[in-house]
Amino acid sequence: MDSKWGGSCWFIPGPTRLTDAVLAGLAHPTMTHRSPEFKAVMAELHGRLRHSFALTPTTTEIGQQAQEGEDGYSVVVVSGSGTAAMEMIIANRFGPDDNVLVPTNGKFGERVAQMCQHFANVTHIKYAWGQPFDLTEIDQILSTGKHDALAICHNETSSGITQNAPEIAKITEKHGVPFILDGITSVGGLPVHPAEWNAEAVVVGGQKCTAGPSGIAAVAVSENFVEAMMERRETNPNPPIYYLDLIQALKKAADDQTPWTPSINLCTGWVASLREQDEEGMEERWARCARLAKGVRNLFIDLGFELFAHEDQRSDTVTAVLYPEPSWGEEWRRWMAMERDTHVIGGQDHVKGRIFRVGTMGVTHIEEMVEGCRRMIEGFRHFGMELPDLDVESYFR
Ligand SMILES: Cc1ncc(COP(=O)(O)O)c(C=O)c1O
Repeated sequence: MDSKWGGSCWFIPGPTRLTDAVLAGLAHPTMTHRSPEFKAVMAELHGRLRHSFALTPTTTEIGQQAQEGEDGYSVVVVSGSGTAAMEMIIANRFGPDDNVLVPTNGKFGERVAQMCQHFANVTHIKYAWGQPFDLTEIDQILSTGKHDALAICHNETSSGITQNAPEIAKITEKHGVPFILDGITSVGGLPVHPAEWNAEAVVVGGQKCTAGPSGIAAVAVSENFVEAMMERRETNPNPPIYYLDLIQALKKAADDQTPWTPSINLCTGWVASLREQDEEGMEERWARCARLAKGVRNLFIDLGFELFAHEDQRSDTVTAVLYPEPSWGEEWRRWMAMERDTHVIGGQDHVKGRIFRVGTMGVTHIEEMVEGCRRMIEGFRHFGMELPDLDVESYFR
């Protein structure tokens, strides 16, 4: 390890750290969104986002329809956070006659269910936070033929669990039910395969695994999605959307544009982070996230901590660890930030004060994680815990 690493240790599961290249990208001088210069940015963004989504490659050249590939999937950039992109999918695809099945095991899945309730009927199956879905139950529910789609949060950032998407995909395929994923903290950090999973739509947020800026997101949609959306629009030409009209966005994306003035400088910043993603390589990035997460999990287990998520499906982009002593856990977290410039995030809703979460996404490197874990151990000792002496670095080799 680089024992000289003395900077900030940033393990927030989004927004992740922006590199100097991304900061420079954000500082691009003003340009108009109808200029060839900006169209070149959009084309590159489309082409590189296809790598994040593990879709067939296209080009990054202007005027070549970089957004749509041989696999039939199209990507669209959304000026808004991940929630806006998810709403774009749900609002354009569903209406009051649709029934969407939403199994959840954390806050962001619950948000998918809430969002769907605004546009469609929802069957919400609530599993305990951090516990796997019962796939037999999901299979049985879908076998009734009463559901028009299954929507999930793929990587549940609130509880540190990744859903078994390949198995869920087999079930949705068996029943001919469209599969929709909030991939906001999986795309770019974990293997996500929309085409293999026959997913109709997947969403990503800029500030998570792709280490881009916050306030920008993207969707990948299949031909089936587009067809179903078009049919719906014929029967209901005035759905409750305007800004997030995906039909308009797809049309403009084909010309390397957006319908409205986009977040121009977030686009230039995101392109810079996607260049870094492509320099590293998708498989290499997935492998680094997995190596970091495995090290964090094994280290904290050996230190005597308990992990929150079920052991079979622990996420490689965020690990939820139970505080040994909830009464001072959040105080420890604040101390780590203030005194050791080491940043992790706490729990949400009913697990607030009970867990802390360590992000292993974006550009976090091994040396930073080794140093950060050493500091966290020091912090726990400062709060009076007796912890074994472990060779932290060996967990990340
Ligand atoms: C899995 C997941 N879905 C959705 C969101 C919401 O995304 P945003 O805050 O970008 O709207 C988050 C944010 O942390 C998330 O982790």
